[in-house]
Amino acid sequence: MKPNIGLTDKTRSTVIKVLQPLLADEVALYIATRGAHWNVTGPNFHALHKFFEDQYEALDEMLDDVAERIRALGGEPDSSVGAYAKAKRIKDNAGDANSAKAKIESLLAAHESIIQQLRKDEEIVDDVGDEGTTDFLTGLMETHEKMAWMLRAHLE
Ligand SMILES: [Fe+2]
Repeated sequence: MKPNIGLTDKTRSTVIKVLQPLLADEVALYIATRGAHWNVTGPNFHALHKFFEDQYEALDEMLDDVAERIRALGGEPDSSVGAYAKAKRIKDNAGDANSAKAKIESLLAAHESIIQQLRKDEEIVDDVGDEGTTDFLTGLMETHEKMAWMLRAHLE
């Protein structure tokens, strides 16, 4: 059944097109963060192993929220690895070294790239009048900014 929420079909479809690649980026970052949890090495292994776990748990909720926002707008979130691989925009983490520095730098770059993209996405969804998604993306961006700070603090 089509959502009757005061947004035109065109608006909903524009917003869903913004959210699908965002979902792919969030899934890719979730997997990369899990990879850091598994593969990081070095003297701070245990603290970092736990830190990355906290971060992938947060990302799990964030990506779920993006997917469910797509549903709330009448769309169908992508749910295959192939679709995510095609749609994701963040740099792939394959081949990253396992040192704490390499893992943290790579995850930080991914968060920062998503934050920059979110600023553009917000403008698009605001321009088409979807206040709910604009607000949602602002909150998501703030969470990424906080997570990026926590990563960055390890490098200073
Ligand atoms: Fe684990």
